[in-house]
Amino acid sequence: MAIEVIATGRAIPPRLLTNDELAKDVDTNDEWIRSHTGIGARHVAASEVAASDLAAEAARNALAMMIGVDADSGAAADAAIAEAALSLDVIIVATATPDHLVIPSTACLVQNKLGAWRASAMDISAGCTGFIYGLETAAGLLSVRGGNRRRVLLIGAETLTRFVDWSDRSTCVLFGDGAGAVIVEKTDAPQEGAGKRGLLRSILRADGAGSVHLVCRRGAGRSPFMPGEVVEKSPYIEMNGQAVYNFAVKVITETIPEIAAMEGISLDDVARIIPHQANARIIQAATKRLKLPEDKFFLNIQNYANTSAASIPIALDELNRGGKLSKGDILITMGFGGGLTYGANLLVW
Ligand code: UT7
Repeated sequence: MAIEVIATGRAIPPRLLTNDELAKDVDTNDEWIRSHTGIGARHVAASEVAASDLAAEAARNALAMMIGVDADSGAAADAAIAEAALSLDVIIVATATPDHLVIPSTACLVQNKLGAWRASAMDISAGCTGFIYGLETAAGLLSVRGGNRRRVLLIGAETLTRFVDWSDRSTCVLFGDGAGAVIVEKTDAPQEGAGKRGLLRSILRADGAGSVHLVCRRGAGRSPFMPGEVVEKSPYIEMNGQAVYNFAVKVITETIPEIAAMEGISLDDVARIIPHQANARIIQAATKRLKLPEDKFFLNIQNYANTSAASIPIALDELNRGGKLSKGDILITMGFGGGLTYGANLLVW
């Protein structure tokens, strides 16, 4: 039995906000943003669009890939996708920017949008490491004896541009909106030995002492909005950029060799490392320390900025649809971010 990703999808809001356009309203410029982060533009969800909308669109695209139809080809495709949604046993949404505070989960909203009536549904809150945690959770749910589950829809979905302080140039330039989805299935392929396939191992870690470095303080249980309170800003993310940067470079440099060694695999044999897209400089620093060729790490931050839990499944879908992944490729995904959390998955495509 193997736990394999059998299809991928993504949803990117059409509105593109370039650095130059952003610089008209914020005291920044394209040169600073590119040289300090690698970001060229980000996508911004329309005001009526929330995380569950992006998540459901990414999910439909993944379901369409699974059954071999074009998601936008009309009523027959819609009906086939709706039918395919009924094969889902679980829906997991990894998000830091859910539709609603407290309840319901964004996954329940996605279940309703897809009509996936057989599926259980829950969210994972693990910041930018949400997809890594989600893949291991999916594998656990599929492996448990008596679970009787075969197929999990795992989505990373974010509307981060709605949770930034647009007057803070050190954070507002960094984030973007989007969603990525994968369908994870329990298959008959071998998980051990020659020809092994699917998810082989994950590392999931957290350093809660660093929770202060990346935090959205207002609106929830610790600091709720009070009746009559005049709110100057909607809830926004505060970040100690330097602390998170140092943490990120350290954990990437430690975790990637660790997960490969645990599986007895040389990094030379890894086809691609798919890191969370937070800052190209973080990846360049880790690449140097690990003495790896730069193209071993996949980077698309120039187009999307940091989409938190969505960045890795968006990258996987880009690679997959672009024909850049071959069966048998060894991949490592690497996440790090709010919590602080970090982790990696090692899988054979
Ligand atoms: O996904 C979650 C994980 N998040 C991350 O991994 C982010 C980690 N941190 C980072 O990527 C970097 O720390 C940042 C990109 C956030 C900041 O880069 P930095 O090189 O550490 O810049 P800095 O904060 O040290 O600021 C340097 C200068 C400051 O000016 P002074 O004080 O030297 O005059 C800032 O005011 O750059 C200034 N600055 C800007 N200038 C133009 C900060 N933001 C901007 C901006 N445009 N957007």
